[in-house]
Amino acid sequence: MNMRTKDFTTPAACTNLEWWRSAVIYQIYPRSFADSDGDGIGDLPGITAKLPYLGRLGIDAIWLSPFYLSPQADAGYDVADYRVVDPLFGTLDDFDRMLEQAHALGMRVIVDLVPNHTSDEHAWFQAALQSPPGSAERARYLFRDGKGAHGNLPPNNWQSVFGGNAWSRAPGDSQWYLHLFDRRQPDLNWDHPDVRSEFEDVLKFWLDRGVDGFRVDVAHGLVKAPGLPDWAGQAAMVEGTEGGDDNPGPMWDQEDVHEIYRSWRRLLDSYPGERMMVAEAWIAPQARLTRYIRPDEMQQAFNFDYLLTHWDAAEIKAVVDSSLAASAAVGAPTTWVMSNHDSVRHTSRYGLSKPGARPKGIAADGEQPDEALGLRRARAAAFLTLALPGSAYIYQGEELGLPEHTTLEAHYRQDPAFFRTNGEEIGRDGCRVPLPWLADAPSFGFGPSEKSWLPQPENFARYAVDRQEGVYGSTLELYRQLLQLRHDYKLGNGQLRWQSGDSSDVLSFDNGTLCTVINLGMRPVTLPPGRLLLSSEQRDASGRLPGNAAAWLALR
Ligand code: NOJ
Repeated sequence: MNMRTKDFTTPAACTNLEWWRSAVIYQIYPRSFADSDGDGIGDLPGITAKLPYLGRLGIDAIWLSPFYLSPQADAGYDVADYRVVDPLFGTLDDFDRMLEQAHALGMRVIVDLVPNHTSDEHAWFQAALQSPPGSAERARYLFRDGKGAHGNLPPNNWQSVFGGNAWSRAPGDSQWYLHLFDRRQPDLNWDHPDVRSEFEDVLKFWLDRGVDGFRVDVAHGLVKAPGLPDWAGQAAMVEGTEGGDDNPGPMWDQEDVHEIYRSWRRLLDSYPGERMMVAEAWIAPQARLTRYIRPDEMQQAFNFDYLLTHWDAAEIKAVVDSSLAASAAVGAPTTWVMSNHDSVRHTSRYGLSKPGARPKGIAADGEQPDEALGLRRARAAAFLTLALPGSAYIYQGEELGLPEHTTLEAHYRQDPAFFRTNGEEIGRDGCRVPLPWLADAPSFGFGPSEKSWLPQPENFARYAVDRQEGVYGSTLELYRQLLQLRHDYKLGNGQLRWQSGDSSDVLSFDNGTLCTVINLGMRPVTLPPGRLLLSSEQRDASGRLPGNAAAWLALR
């Protein structure tokens, strides 16, 4: 095991205390960001080559979705070895080089930790399958005897988040094992001391290499209710969990999970350099979610309530207020997230007839979003998101205004949710399509060959980086200006004060000396006094802000 300890150097230009409180964090989905070797799958050297692009964008940190050894049954969220880089993505040396470069450019690096389950190819699970019921090897997972005279029925009625039964049996095996996700992602038994010590070691492994933090996958799922009682609800990811706020289900949000994060926090705090954790937890209400970010637990949790909000002024105002209040109650920053690799890109959601609706993927026979309207709204939404106090997440391609691939043919799909629901759930492939860098190159410049693990739609040419770089008013240049102003006006560390807008479709608020106006309706509105800094669309001849547009004004 390589436990090389590196001297931790605080990234240049990243010396502010508790940096995560106001950070803009860019999510890289490694397989779709940039491909260096032409195999059609993005990789670590590809990321390193594009770091200067991210530096110019003005972000504070990157978060990398998993790049560890994996059979890729769930695009790397099925980890076979937590300390090895999958050859698809490069080597550990490639990782070190990437980290060093990112730090040299003043960017922090957060890696993904997947503690709820391993891959079925993980050595522990392989050993468990080769060991008899009741063995020490099986105790690290949740193996149970089945019900019925011959044990042919699953041990309880839990359903997988990806559809179908949450229990499977290996061929010829008498016992069942739990998997809240795909059958190739067996859930670990977090009551087992080996599991706890192994993950502390994994954390140390990456902390010693110099990472700045961890995004904790399925943070609300590690501990299950004792006895694994039946539950009639259906656990969901993107739309939240059914079953009422007070009853998330016996597989989620159990009290004992918090002790795990307290122990991890102690470990992170023993390292120099303000290492952090962000919880991926699909739970409601906000007051339950913010228990994960109490002062001795994680620093941040993704704000999925914000992601799930419709294009509606009253709804947005309510979620902003409830998010700020809930995080303030525990002294943590709020996060603002509009898109990620599990949800339809917001540019496309905002172009649906019910703007902001959250379908589980979009296929050619489903409602096709109005691309131009969705983009227009997404550009306006960036003014809102980046003006709010707290930390903001940007999903790769969002800065280009990239839409979802909404016509991907079924035979290209790879998301296990698509297969486990027999296509009823379209799945998440449409938001994971490789990025366009060059409009006129093969694979739109994603890599040096024409290969791309998912085909890119024709309209990606319009969004390519080279079509937008240096082009006044392009979404990329808009994001760059927004990020620069956000930094100059210290919006991330500021405070929000609502102002009354001149219509119920308008939201207006001050943060320090910057005023944001977002017009979610169709009719143009008069801007309040102030010096216009930036707007998502041109004002009309009378100087009014058109519909589905936003502006930032300087108050002094
Ligand atoms: C959440 C991840 O974001 C998602 O992509 C993955 O499928 C599940 N957790 C299971 O690890």
